[in-house]
Amino acid sequence: MPREMLLDIRNLHVSFTGYRGHSRVLNGVNLTVGRGEKVGLVGETGCGKSLTVRAVLGLLQPPRARIRGEIWFAGRNLLALPPGELQQIRGREIAMIFQDPMAALNPVFTVGDQLLDIIARRPGGRPSERAAWARAVDILKEVALPDPERIMRAYPVQLSGGMRQRVLIAMALVNEPALVIADEPGTALDVTIQEQILQVMRALVDAKRTSVLLITHNLGVVRQTTDRVYVMYAGSIAETAPTADLFSAPQHPYTQGLLASVPKLTGEGVPRGIDGMIPDYLNPPPGCRFAPRCQFAQPRCQQPPPWVRVGAEHDVACVLYDDGSRPSAERAAPSPIPLPTGEGTDEASGLPSNTAPAVTRP
Ligand SMILES: Nc1ncnc2c1ncn2[C@@H]1O[C@H](COP(=O)(O)OP(=O)(O)OP(=O)(O)O)[C@@H](O)[C@H]1O
Ligand SMILES: [Mg+2]
Repeated sequence: MPREMLLDIRNLHVSFTGYRGHSRVLNGVNLTVGRGEKVGLVGETGCGKSLTVRAVLGLLQPPRARIRGEIWFAGRNLLALPPGELQQIRGREIAMIFQDPMAALNPVFTVGDQLLDIIARRPGGRPSERAAWARAVDILKEVALPDPERIMRAYPVQLSGGMRQRVLIAMALVNEPALVIADEPGTALDVTIQEQILQVMRALVDAKRTSVLLITHNLGVVRQTTDRVYVMYAGSIAETAPTADLFSAPQHPYTQGLLASVPKLTGEGVPRGIDGMIPDYLNPPPGCRFAPRCQFAQPRCQQPPPWVRVGAEHDVACVLYDDGSRPSAERAAPSPIPLPTGEGTDEASGLPSNTAPAVTRP
């Protein structure tokens, strides 16, 4: 049965005009999140993940930022909405969890003031003061904060980083939004706290069937948390697949390189980076933007890559697949990289240590 779409980003282009010229960053992004679906968005730094989110939230200001395309959310094109309506959706139906909790909280108001203010904007009308307070205390309990009454009266500066991030999750989820966008949640925190935070978030979104768009550099977190993944390279989507398929049979040369560059704490295997750098958006390569770094590049890559279906919900933007062939046993050839074989999870990557990505030669 086809999944009901909640967010549907179609052919999104974003460019900026600055004194050095015109930089074309997002180059036709297509991305969907279904109702109740948890979707990951990965890709190296500067590829346009946060920019995509800012476009969804209406945070890009023309005329400096030029935006083209469509962003459908629950049946409305956000790019065509009047600002007032967009603001309503942003507060109530789409919630955002940012990386740095201190920057996202207002230091001069107590946690309670900030939480009650959000609850007052709840769809369906303002609850009584007493009901709002009870709701706030409940959500703080749900994010496993001890002594919620005390936290309600505390200022952000009086809380630890982990507590602040939990408060932020509470604020994002208190009005039960349909979609939560989390951009690198908890990466400002140490890894054990980050894991606890993600557990709290996972439990809450599962209980409420909230849709999630999760941006992170941690592929282990993506693997544990999401149903489907998008891999972004230099402003467009290179590949998307159900999470398990993406990790077991990555098809785009960039995805293969990305997965192969995850280091193992055990020191087993040889993490391979991808030579070269993300292109300059002022003067990006024509056609496939990955071509200059791709070992399989060919003259056809000067043209925009085709979007090819290679499996169930598995699509790849690469000429290597445009002959209609499916990924096969020959394609998923044994990796030339010695792969670790031990059991358990690699602590650095969060990936099971015996399931390093198979590097295939398309
Ligand atoms: N307001 C802006 N004006 C000009 N360029 C911008 C603007 N905002 C973002 N960019 C450029 O867009 C590109 C993508 O930025 P973005 O923040 O989306 O990357 P990202 O994928 O989120 O990276 P990271 O993983 O480091 O967070 C960068 O090259 C950035 O310099
Ligand atoms: Mg970012």
